[in-house]
Amino acid sequence: MSEEIKKFKITIDGQTTEVLPGTSILEAARQIGGKLVPPAMCYYKPLETSGGRCRTCLVEVSKGSDADSRPMPKLVASCRTGVMDGMEVKNLTSEKTQEARKAVTEFLLINHPLDCPVCDQAGECHLQDLGYEHGVEATRIEFERRTFEPEDIGPNIKLHMNRCILCARCVLAANQLTETREHGILFRGEVAEISTYLNKALDNDFIGNVIDVCPVGALTDRTSRFASRVWFTKPVNATCECTKCSGTAVLWMKGEEIVRVTARKDQFDEIIDWICNECRWEKKDAKLWNIEGPRHIDRHSVISLNHYEKPKNMVSLLNNSHAKELSPEDEAESAVKKDSNFNLM
Ligand code: SF4
Ligand code: FES
Repeated sequence: MSEEIKKFKITIDGQTTEVLPGTSILEAARQIGGKLVPPAMCYYKPLETSGGRCRTCLVEVSKGSDADSRPMPKLVASCRTGVMDGMEVKNLTSEKTQEARKAVTEFLLINHPLDCPVCDQAGECHLQDLGYEHGVEATRIEFERRTFEPEDIGPNIKLHMNRCILCARCVLAANQLTETREHGILFRGEVAEISTYLNKALDNDFIGNVIDVCPVGALTDRTSRFASRVWFTKPVNATCECTKCSGTAVLWMKGEEIVRVTARKDQFDEIIDWICNECRWEKKDAKLWNIEGPRHIDRHSVISLNHYEKPKNMVSLLNNSHAKELSPEDEAESAVKKDSNFNLM
């Protein structure tokens, strides 16, 4: 008979949940959900050993556990710190955490250019969101930013090293998804950079996923660069017959045209199902896909404002005394109101 594993109780910003031993504070926060979930620029659940690099997920542990109630002396990276039974954590309710997040944002922006107006990641960029929420108006850095020339790494991937925050997600994805990895982080500290060994092209069946895991615009899709701002495209769920991957993807459409194809992601912007290069780059014809319908974007971002979807539950809408057919403008406005943290672009 299997013994039931005793769960650990954890309270984050006053909300309590129970998790299995070994769960990180960040995952426990995700289990509770909502705004108390710390941001994560390097942690990526589907990638083993991710996290611990960017420090955006720092939180304050005000009570270590029931067995030892002392607070932890320093802020801890929630993605890499395990829950203890009876632990109490402060994220939004901690001034120290908010101050630290501001400092980390400033640090990440030391070298990152503010080129959102021309960057393909704008609207989907985690650093942009972080900058709006915690950024300061002016830089205090007097030194020159480090700069690199954009580089084509492989036939369909462009590397803008200027924008890279060295989160290592792409390296882990290439390591864990493909049989060969031809790129990595070269050098250390201030001069560290993502590069391909001997300028070899990244070329294997699943390498396109490195674009989707990149939290900023350092890795972009050469087949859709500058084709459209993301908020002008409509994401739709689509499937296709594929022998290499599940063939479940999101098509970003502009009229009848498929601007780009990406993997499906959850509310934390993490890939649910990796897709192969063929689905990503060689099926830009809508006839090759079975279109299921509009993709609901859970993630808090400007792209979740493409409210052309109908509410799932029409009955509850009709029962609502204010029920009426909303115009797209009304829907966008009500979504902004619902999410007071939303930052207009
Ligand atoms: S290229 Fe993107 S995914 Fe890779 S380390 Fe830099 S920021 Fe992270
Ligand atoms: S998400 Fe935890 S350190 Fe980067």
